[in-house]
Amino acid sequence: METNLDILLVSEDDVVTNQVLNTLDQEDSSLSVISAEDTVREVNRQTRDIIVFVQSNNDNSVELIQYIKSVNPSTYIIFLARDSDFTILRNISKAGAEDFFVLPDEMSLFLSRFPTIKKNYEMKKSNREESTVVFGKGRGQIYSFYSGKGGSGKSIISSTFAQTLKLESAAEVILIDFNIQYGGIETMMSIETNRSIADLTPVIEELNESHVRNVSQTETHSQLEILVSPCDAEVGETLDDQFIAKLLRTCRRSFDYVIIDLPSDINHLMVTAMEESDKIYYVLYPETSSLKVLKHYEELCTRLGIDLQSRLEIVLNETSKENELQEGDLKDILRFPITAAIRRDLKGLQTFINKGEPVRKSPNEKRLIPFAKDIRKFTRAVLK
Ligand SMILES: Nc1ncnc2c1ncn2[C@@H]1O[C@H](COP(=O)(O)OP(=O)(O)OP(=O)(O)O)[C@@H](O)[C@H]1O
Ligand SMILES: [Mg+2]
Repeated sequence: METNLDILLVSEDDVVTNQVLNTLDQEDSSLSVISAEDTVREVNRQTRDIIVFVQSNNDNSVELIQYIKSVNPSTYIIFLARDSDFTILRNISKAGAEDFFVLPDEMSLFLSRFPTIKKNYEMKKSNREESTVVFGKGRGQIYSFYSGKGGSGKSIISSTFAQTLKLESAAEVILIDFNIQYGGIETMMSIETNRSIADLTPVIEELNESHVRNVSQTETHSQLEILVSPCDAEVGETLDDQFIAKLLRTCRRSFDYVIIDLPSDINHLMVTAMEESDKIYYVLYPETSSLKVLKHYEELCTRLGIDLQSRLEIVLNETSKENELQEGDLKDILRFPITAAIRRDLKGLQTFINKGEPVRKSPNEKRLIPFAKDIRKFTRAVLK
């Protein structure tokens, strides 16, 4: 069997690291050692087969394991615990770890079992590869649009971006409106429906693609799937973190791109959505007060343990020569890359907003408004 497994050892304990490195046969696999804080970045960088996770010092092991599983449900996780606290072990299993061993007593057991674990994994992996050829689906990308400032263009940009992605490629795309209380996407995309995300609650435990497609609405011009908001704070209260995580993981498996319109107010549901996202596009209006809001958001994420460095990118909106700050100035100030710049286009957008029509309707439209051209440029760069 020809395999070359990609194995990660997440460890901050040199003794454990050395023991593992000395014993494991590394001939037919690549093994790298990283610290817990680099986990998110490293699992996003490439698909990992097996992760041996040594309990981290600042006890975010459960969250990290959940994250690894959300990125790739087939990554095999082995947890090496430093204490036999039952609650931790139970939470680790719930988060998705396949195996755990308690150190130091079970170190030799782990090392002796590892070759078998590896072999079983290899077999499962080659089966999986055969079946992916049949279904032809890869791992979907989740892109969230966010801004700490209300009215900055999140909804119009995310919906036009999703629509353009669908029109300009063969990808399966779904747009989700997480503005639970007020909605907004349904108006912009002229969708009338009494079904919303909340209708998935009864089936959330066994959620699959057809449940999602039963509730989502198909935009008539592009066939973009849209999950609209319940537009009801009370209904929103019945949703929890697990609901959001399960919904997004199902969408990730069934679509190539999952585009999310996030509200500016952050609650625990939106934290989950951000954690599940591969990218967060922060919509920034080029002026000093917006930079302050961004700074504030960065601080909040640090406190919440959301890693921004690996996933936040800036989308400048309403750029214009008259603005206080220009793209060049911002490049020097910002810690994040500027991925797109969208011109202010009051005249062009007005008709669409007033009529409640999507900005894009067909693949080869000849006359696009400046706003739509800028979004198309952004989309094409993403598709590359
Ligand atoms: N590039 C632009 N040029 C001109 N007008 C724009 C541009 N981007 C957004 N707007 C206008 O700004 C208004 C707010 O946009 P939008 O509703 O998308 O913002 P939002 O961030 O989703 O707001 P909220 O926080 O209320 O959800 C809209 O009327 C929209 O037409
Ligand atoms: Mg909005």
